[in-house]
Amino acid sequence: MGRFFITEGNPHLNLMEEKNNPKEDYVVTPWEASGNIDYEDLIERFGTSHIDKELLDRIEDITGELHFMLAREIFYSHRDFNWILDEYEKGNHFAMYTGRGPSGHTHVGHLMPWIFAKWLQDKFDVELYFQLTDDEKFLFNFDMDQETTHAYALENALDVIALGFDPEKTHILIDTDYISTLYPIALKVAKRLNFSNVKAVFGFDNSTNVGSIFYTTIQSAPCFLPTELKGHDVPVVIPCGIDQDPHFRLTRDVASKIGYLKPALLHNKLAPSLDGTGKMSASMPKTTIFTTDTPEDVKSKLSNAFTGGCISAKEQREKGGNPDICAIQNYRYYIFEENDEIINDIYRRCRDGDILCGECKSQLIEKVNTFLKKHKKGREKAKDLLSDFLLTD
Ligand code: TRP
Repeated sequence: MGRFFITEGNPHLNLMEEKNNPKEDYVVTPWEASGNIDYEDLIERFGTSHIDKELLDRIEDITGELHFMLAREIFYSHRDFNWILDEYEKGNHFAMYTGRGPSGHTHVGHLMPWIFAKWLQDKFDVELYFQLTDDEKFLFNFDMDQETTHAYALENALDVIALGFDPEKTHILIDTDYISTLYPIALKVAKRLNFSNVKAVFGFDNSTNVGSIFYTTIQSAPCFLPTELKGHDVPVVIPCGIDQDPHFRLTRDVASKIGYLKPALLHNKLAPSLDGTGKMSASMPKTTIFTTDTPEDVKSKLSNAFTGGCISAKEQREKGGNPDICAIQNYRYYIFEENDEIINDIYRRCRDGDILCGECKSQLIEKVNTFLKKHKKGREKAKDLLSDFLLTD
């Protein structure tokens, strides 16, 4: 038995092999997402659970309202979140953990799970641990040096702080600055994680650098950090993109063997890109909006976005547009419009040919620029607050 990897999902899952599988028309790994992602299929392949009506009702009973990302099934999958609520109701407060790989500036798609985490923090009054994995981005990106990934970690930290997290309850850790604390925990994980485990899940081979093979232990460590810091078992939930689940599936497999609670997860769908394909990605700067973009950048990117409009205004007035495939509509739906009535109204008017793409784009450009103006002010203020948030050895 020891020779075989054990995971909770499909034990034969090999993400990299699937990449070459002609039957799949999409790829989702922690490092790559492309194609037409089938989120229902991912639940099955990863072996996670739907956030169903019962769980939503349970959350709403406690929080008094549902965040739009829950109501719209953007956060749509979970592992053990019922258990987190059981513990919460017994008075055992959980901690949250999420993170970001600092390979560049933050884009608005990254903000999605963080905005949600902020809501959870406010509603449940819990602490958040936020990991910035400068080591990961150094190891996995051949052309990135350590100075660059560390500098981006500090830049990305400003974006987290700008969202208004409570400094008393929010702890940001940059891996290379906090490694003395993380390392003993990572070691415990490393001792129980075999090469065959990570190889099976990530498709590593003999040419993979050994840092990458070790890396999952570092991403696992913050799952157990609250327990170490508080000196007693602290349940942890990780709000994150479903693409990160493979790391945590491995973490969960080893948790009880090393005397820790398994972390629970809440998974979100990935924010769509402006060209109508795949997820927003820093490697596609023209179809991705960064928090550091100027109003002119935003205008130009959104003006060129893929929409469901017709070739001529006349035709669109007659036939209507197709909001289902429209990147502008998606941006509203995923991040920039909380109000369902507004979403539905624009949807209907698009279908009926009452609103054309130009007007629709202008509205969103204004909305995004208003958001970014405020966010940038928050980033400036955050520079003075950094030390209140950063955990260092
Ligand atoms: N690997 C993630 C990325 O590349 C960063 C990360 C570290 C993370 N810990 C996490 C993401 C916890 C979500 C939850 O972006």
